[in-house]
Amino acid sequence: MTRRIVLTSGKGGVGKTTVTANLGAQLSRMGYRVMICDTDFGLNNIDVVTGIENLIVYDIVDAIEGRCRPKQALIQHPTFKNLYVLSSNHSLPNRYISPQTVKLMIDSLAPQFDFVLIDCPAGIDDGFHRAVASAEEALVITTPHMSSLRDADKVISVLQSYRLANINLVINMARGDMMMNGDILSPREICDILKIPLIAMIPEDDTIFLNQLGNDGTKSFKLLASNIIEGRHKIYDVTKKYSGLFGSIRRSLKKSL
Ligand SMILES: Nc1ncnc2c1ncn2[C@@H]1O[C@H](COP(=O)(O)OP(=O)(O)OP(=O)(O)O)[C@@H](O)[C@H]1O
Ligand SMILES: [Mg+2]
Repeated sequence: MTRRIVLTSGKGGVGKTTVTANLGAQLSRMGYRVMICDTDFGLNNIDVVTGIENLIVYDIVDAIEGRCRPKQALIQHPTFKNLYVLSSNHSLPNRYISPQTVKLMIDSLAPQFDFVLIDCPAGIDDGFHRAVASAEEALVITTPHMSSLRDADKVISVLQSYRLANINLVINMARGDMMMNGDILSPREICDILKIPLIAMIPEDDTIFLNQLGNDGTKSFKLLASNIIEGRHKIYDVTKKYSGLFGSIRRSLKKSL
């Protein structure tokens, strides 16, 4: 059975596309067949983040409007052979395409995959509903900042009107040093506010790129992928490298930067 997961946030720029691309790459590394799907017509950039922008001939709108077969709009990633990208059209920001049409398109392709990851645009208007209508599960992405939490809270209440199997929380751009200093909210405080289960904490990591192995970001994506597969909630500890003597030196160095 294909699992269809929408990644949403309300607030823009919190890392939906980054998390979609890295989670997709991680699942595909683990041998799962993954389709990542861009449902933002106008502004989204999953093709750039996954590095396949020069391979695009057709996109999801071409497939919906019959200019190509759905399969022709799917692009196999050159590095991750199990990863396929269904990109969106960047030149039709005002064209209305219904959630049902997108769902039909995703329905026709989904059986070939173990996972369909749907990258949702910011906001809770048409693009949001277009993304969520095709999903059965949701990951809400937030950063540990109040403005992001407020929007995540709104999104969670709208998601509750959909019949989703589960809604889990991903805290992105978490700074272990700031968490230890009490400068940003802790995971417990965030979960108390949002009241959905935490499934991952992704550190702020300037080297978050698809094919870089071994960095903190990649470790946290491995845990997220395993949590999704095994239905558990093991969380990457972003504060670990800031505890102890060396950790406190690291923290004061980071503070002075
Ligand atoms: N964990 C992270 N560490 C460092 N930078 C990150 C992290 N996650 C995302 N970013 C950066 O933050 C910026 C916004 O990320 P991204 O485009 O994924 O957000 P988004 O929620 O998809 O935005 P939009 O709402 O515009 O679609 C990008 O420059 C990305 O590289
Ligand atoms: Mg995005």
